Amino acid sequence: MTTHMTLRVNGSDHDITVAPDTLLLDALRYECGLTGAKLGCGTGDCGACTVTVDGEAVNSCLVYALECEGHAVETVEGATAGGIGALVAEEFVKADAVQCGFCSPGIIMSTCALLARTEPGAATDEDIKEALAGNLCRCTGYLPILEAVRRASGAPR
Ligand code: FES
Ligand code: FES
Repeated sequence: MTTHMTLRVNGSDHDITVAPDTLLLDALRYECGLTGAKLGCGTGDCGACTVTVDGEAVNSCLVYALECEGHAVETVEGATAGGIGALVAEEFVKADAVQCGFCSPGIIMSTCALLARTEPGAATDEDIKEALAGNLCRCTGYLPILEAVRRASGAPR
């Protein structure tokens, strides 16, 4: 059984058809054509699928699309189109914090959620590590990632 729903993503409404058990990740990738969020583990452990819902970082592999109706979803495509997300992406490139890049969309979204709730320059290393604790990088690029988030956090907004 499928049902129609409206999913608000990156400021645009998408009229899509989903099953009751369609995951937000699958709706984004296969119904909305937004492939930035990635399927890694599918069990909430790696963070490759991280998006924000109403500004909070969530694992889109653990949330049903239908639960997100009436909420504002943001993916890496929307977040990095301008503003602080674009700055975060720029700092990742400058700090060489991207290797294979599979983890990067999720890490950028967790960073955006952190920076949205902290004043410029206020995020400590502990805050950053806690915010990124659910994002695994298989290429072990954690130090450049930390540096990129530090720099983005310190930038004026
Ligand atoms: S794919 Fe969602 S946490 Fe790993
Ligand atoms: S850059 Fe490869 S998994 Fe993080």
